[in-house]
Amino acid sequence: MHPLAPIISILILGLRSASQEAPGAATTAPSTETAAPSTETIVTVPISQYSFSAFPLPSQTPVAGVSPLSDPREPPPVGSSLIPDFAHAWAGAYQEAKNKIANFTLDEKVSVGTGVGWMAGRCVGNTPPIGVNGSKFPGLCLEDSPLGIRFADFVTAFPTGINTAATWNRKLIRRRGLFMGREHVGKGVNVALGPMMNIGRVAQGGRNWEGFGADPFLAGEAAYETILGMQEGGVQACAKHLINNEQEHFRTQESSDVDDRTQHEIYAHPFLRSIMAGVASIMCSYNLINGTYACENDKIMNDIIKREFGFQGYIMSDWAATHSTISVITGLDMTMPGDITFQSGTTYFGANLTAYVQNNTIPAARLDDLATRIIAGWYFVHQDAGDYPTTNFDAFNPANEETNEHVDVQEDHYKVVREIGAASTVLLKNTNGALPLKKPRSIVLVGSDAGPGKVGPNEFADQGGVDGILAMGWGSGTANFTYLISPLEAIQRRARDDRTSVSWILDDFDTDRAGNMAIGRSAALVFISSDSGEDYITVDGNEGDRKNLTAWHSGDDLVQAVAAQNNNTIVVVHSVGPLILEPWIDHPNVTAVLWAGVPGQEAGNSITDVLYGDWNPSGRLPYTIAKQASDYSAHLILGGQPTDILSIPYTEGLNVDYRYFDAFNITPRFEFGFGLSYTNFTYNKLHIAEVGGQASTDADLEESWAAGNATPIAQGSSTAIWLHRPLYNVTFEVENTGPVWGGDIPQLYLNMPPSAGEPPSILKGFTNVEILPGDKKTVGITLSRYDLSFWDTVAQGWRRPNGTIGVTIGTSSRDARLKGNITIA
Ligand SMILES: *[C@@H]1O[C@H](CO)[C@@H](O)[C@H](O)[C@H]1NC(C)=O
Ligand SMILES: *[C@@H]1O[C@H](CO)[C@@H](O)[C@H](O)[C@H]1NC(C)=O
Ligand SMILES: *[C@@H]1O[C@H](CO)[C@@H](O)[C@H](O)[C@H]1NC(C)=O
Ligand SMILES: *[C@@H]1O[C@H](CO)[C@@H](O)[C@H](O)[C@H]1NC(C)=O
Ligand SMILES: *[C@@H]1O[C@H](CO)[C@@H](O)[C@H](O)[C@H]1NC(C)=O
Ligand SMILES: *[C@@H]1O[C@H](CO)[C@@H](O)[C@H](O)[C@H]1NC(C)=O
Ligand SMILES: *[C@@H]1O[C@H](CO)[C@@H](O)[C@H](O)[C@H]1NC(C)=O
Ligand SMILES: *[C@@H]1O[C@H](CO)[C@@H](O)[C@H](O)[C@H]1NC(C)=O
Ligand SMILES: *[C@@H]1O[C@H](CO)[C@@H](O)[C@H](O)[C@H]1NC(C)=O
Ligand SMILES: *[C@@H]1O[C@H](CO)[C@@H](O)[C@H](O)[C@H]1NC(C)=O
Ligand SMILES: *[C@@H]1O[C@H](CO)[C@@H](O)[C@H](O)[C@H]1NC(C)=O
Ligand SMILES: *[C@@H]1O[C@H](CO)[C@@H](O)[C@H](O)[C@H]1NC(C)=O
Repeated sequence: MHPLAPIISILILGLRSASQEAPGAATTAPSTETAAPSTETIVTVPISQYSFSAFPLPSQTPVAGVSPLSDPREPPPVGSSLIPDFAHAWAGAYQEAKNKIANFTLDEKVSVGTGVGWMAGRCVGNTPPIGVNGSKFPGLCLEDSPLGIRFADFVTAFPTGINTAATWNRKLIRRRGLFMGREHVGKGVNVALGPMMNIGRVAQGGRNWEGFGADPFLAGEAAYETILGMQEGGVQACAKHLINNEQEHFRTQESSDVDDRTQHEIYAHPFLRSIMAGVASIMCSYNLINGTYACENDKIMNDIIKREFGFQGYIMSDWAATHSTISVITGLDMTMPGDITFQSGTTYFGANLTAYVQNNTIPAARLDDLATRIIAGWYFVHQDAGDYPTTNFDAFNPANEETNEHVDVQEDHYKVVREIGAASTVLLKNTNGALPLKKPRSIVLVGSDAGPGKVGPNEFADQGGVDGILAMGWGSGTANFTYLISPLEAIQRRARDDRTSVSWILDDFDTDRAGNMAIGRSAALVFISSDSGEDYITVDGNEGDRKNLTAWHSGDDLVQAVAAQNNNTIVVVHSVGPLILEPWIDHPNVTAVLWAGVPGQEAGNSITDVLYGDWNPSGRLPYTIAKQASDYSAHLILGGQPTDILSIPYTEGLNVDYRYFDAFNITPRFEFGFGLSYTNFTYNKLHIAEVGGQASTDADLEESWAAGNATPIAQGSSTAIWLHRPLYNVTFEVENTGPVWGGDIPQLYLNMPPSAGEPPSILKGFTNVEILPGDKKTVGITLSRYDLSFWDTVAQGWRRPNGTIGVTIGTSSRDARLKGNITIA
């Protein structure tokens, strides 16, 4: 049993009853990243091993003719092969930050990195104003979540991270980021605590829905576009959780033991892409890596993030994940929310940090460095501009009219929510022309997931419960719904136009009645769901992580009862992650299955758009749906005594999700990247050409790489522009041979030669293309030197493999359509 469980459930119960009696009272606001972790430090790294040294800025010389000097407010357009070069913007921000702290006292510099404490400010995290009334620096408001603004009103509840990834559509991902950024700015937030980019290594992982799926490339692209969008909007983004926080159970007491190559190629990749997007901040996670807490981990924070990846921003702790003052030496820049445990009144920073600097345990230069990094993040996205909104909401006292100004920041963002909801829906099965629906004479909607919750969309604090349509998981990664459209409402509106007779049964457990009601209907739509979230809330025995991969509320029985009586049974799944569909997926009466994920406030409209063909499905699975839970390569590690540190060895290495199914020849039910359409696409004319015409100032490095040498170990070498610039353009023709307009997602997988030691097939590119019936378009997917490399653990650099690299263009990880080769001479 989780040692914190009793405390946590009391806390949650207390909150629930408090909110019934006094909605909006100060104590009703539930915790953010929740309960304080165990303060026990298992491995204390000897001080002599700490490797702090000042990290110089990367070269400030612009690379002529290659990449523009980018301002985060003017990122390169989506789909452009230009790589943003933020070196100048960072250098400028550093200069301003250094000037700013020049007359800060020691205490003031310490304060820049010390949160004010849990619930001691308007936001879930706050740093104090410096100087009289903030005359020197106003302080920062840090606010959840990765899909909107938590604890605020008049905000948009955007689609979840997992749905965003399932669109495989960079344009939509960027736009969502931009609109979320603008909403945060409108509320006076400085730092938005997202995106979340932990990998869906374990299908049951409670927070997987906050992130971008089970593949590092897809997650990396989604993180990159989200951050470019958010920071264009003016808020500082926060890449989280650094790193290997892939399950909820014992997250503060588990050591993820990950080898160096897997770390680089799988788990760190989305962080590298975040840094390339200019992310201002990163959040270190609760767990340990190889026996050392993430927020004390010199290898992760200093070596990989700040040196190898050249990160210029600052690293903050997850909420109460700081374990020592000396963490400052190992790379931690800010402690959040500031106190050691919530409301303890103590801190590892503050007076402790001052004392450590005074007696030279922590160099004064390092204190300057952390203060500079934090204030540089603020300048970098231009939050010094005089008109930057001051915080105008109150996370913990939303009913206080003095502090909550109810600023409406929603604009017309619901439109992109609806579009992403539709674009992320994956059509898994469609037989007998079941979909799209064509003015059916009669339909029945079955299941609680089809309708609204009994008392509205915010029945449970932090969405910690399911009643009605599931459009979000639970925990700190949520926002309140201003409204939530259920399928029942949206489909009824459609039925009015179509003259369709609609009936419904929202009781999940009266399967007999549901079956009877389905008799004779033109179509029976069964809605089933599966939920998960963060470990501080337990829902139906699920302590954050899901305890199984089956549908909730007797969903499988419901589908079977209806399918027994209706030969046009259409199943819609709202789920935080994979479900085992075997009980009914091959049932001849189950004619269609739509995978709708957790799509946000327009859920009902989005699914209706797809059901009726107003949107032709183009979503693709961001993870594998297996035939049985045991087929996956990694599983939850449960158990543990109160003082234990659970060991979680990542023994599958690179074989995460589909890579494992491929390597071990396990047939999944629906593979990673899979998704059907209402039309058909064919691919032709594969052509692979080197991208020429680029004058490079790094020709020597490029030649060395081509000669087979690993990239050098140098500051920022992993994010160096020459390594990521397009080297090959893989072009081919996509033709819409079917009856209707549609969007397709061609995917590029590499098949490395055996000597490289890679899984059989690895995603390294994708694009989206919209085509009219009968038309064709030529598309290109570029590959960089980085894409064609693996991490050489001995040389500590990126190296190309020897021999021929296979290039596969397919409609999924298992449906190859075109094949080519690349041989680097
Ligand atoms: C110190 O900082 C304050 C606030 O930014 C500024 O007004 C003042 O001019 C600075 N003083 C010096 C000596 O730089
Ligand atoms: C963890 O240990 C593995 C195996 O020794 C090593 O390859 C990896 O670099 C270590 N990672 C960290 C962050 O210490
Ligand atoms: C300094 O840190 C220690 C733990 O190392 C803690 O017990 C103490 O309360 C902290 N001091 C302050 C002033 O917060
Ligand atoms: C420096 O100060 C800290 C905090 O008071 C103390 O824990 C530490 O032992 C001191 N180190 C030295 C070398 O004096
Ligand atoms: C969010 O919803 C909760 C109920 O789940 C409610 O107590 C709280 O006041 C709401 N917050 C805002 C800002 O409306
Ligand atoms: C499905 O059942 C209906 C009667 O409810 C029948 O008219 C129709 O032919 C059946 N379709 C198939 C494909 O069996
Ligand atoms: C799986 O968990 C859900 C949610 O707690 C529960 O409703 C369902 O009955 C469980 N399935 C099985 C087979 O135990
Ligand atoms: C399919 O539905 C029809 C009713 O339309 C029913 O008669 C038949 O038994 C069902 N088939 C199965 C395999 O349940
Ligand atoms: C075209 O698509 C339909 C519907 O998805 C499918 O049944 C059919 O097999 C496809 N045809 C080809 C040639 O791929
Ligand atoms: C790759 O090819 C596509 C299609 O011809 C083209 O639009 C694109 O500009 C090319 N990209 C580069 C970097 O050459
Ligand atoms: C590539 O081949 C060279 C020469 O045979 C060899 O030294 C090197 O280790 C090989 N590299 C890899 C990654 O197999
Ligand atoms: C790619 O190279 C392999 C040998 O490495 C060869 O068997 C295959 O036919 C080549 N494929 C193409 C499309 O040229």
